[in-house]
Amino acid sequence: MTFKESLNFRHACKVFDENRKISEAEFAQILEAGRLSPSSLGLEHWDFWLVQNPKMREKIQKACWNQVQIPTCSHLLVIFAKISDFKSGGEYVRQMVERRFDKNSAQHDAYIAKIEDFLVHNVGQSDLEIFAWSKAQCFLCAQNMMSMAAVLGIDTCPIEGYVESELNKALELDTSKKRVAMLLPFGYRVNEPKPKVRRNLDEFLTVFE
Ligand SMILES: Cc1cc2nc3c(=O)[nH]c(=O)nc-3n(C[C@H](O)[C@H](O)[C@H](O)COP(=O)(O)O)c2cc1C
Repeated sequence: MTFKESLNFRHACKVFDENRKISEAEFAQILEAGRLSPSSLGLEHWDFWLVQNPKMREKIQKACWNQVQIPTCSHLLVIFAKISDFKSGGEYVRQMVERRFDKNSAQHDAYIAKIEDFLVHNVGQSDLEIFAWSKAQCFLCAQNMMSMAAVLGIDTCPIEGYVESELNKALELDTSKKRVAMLLPFGYRVNEPKPKVRRNLDEFLTVFE
């Protein structure tokens, strides 16, 4: 499938075929698309949980407007946006910078200082500010995985339709460390999608010449 064809193939799948499972080789390709995603300052703001446990899925579904994608999908990813790792002085940022073997330690320190300044002055240091920034990077990662899946003929549905407090309880989450950015189920459609509804380009594009 070409990338252009995959854009029309991808839709927000509402029910997955419970009898069809994605092969581990194809799911590995999807995860690789996530791993290779861009992120602000190269800090890879995401963590994933792959939830295949039916009891856990049941709890998640309850917090998630009872959406049918949760129990029926082949693979369910919970994508978390990191928070505490981006508080000024955090060890994670240092680790992400120091893995760059093409730079020496003075260059690492200078880059960390630059990131620290960005975290304080551009992002902000409240949990909410960090979460908003982190979540934006997670969405890029999620989109890459959705695109990869579509190219492979695999369906997805980005999900943020949940009561977050209930979802946090179901996941026993420490929200000072990370919060859910999105749930992302993968599988195979049962029903054909409805035609796409989109604005025309001239309704949202302004050109300055
Ligand atoms: C961040 C985000 C959250 C979404 N949450 C849900 C959701 O909880 N349940 C759902 O069925 N669709 C959800 N959607 C899907 C959108 O409703 C869908 O992408 C949009 O209506 C366009 O339709 P299409 O993706 O089928 O082209 C979400 C989409 C995004 C980008």
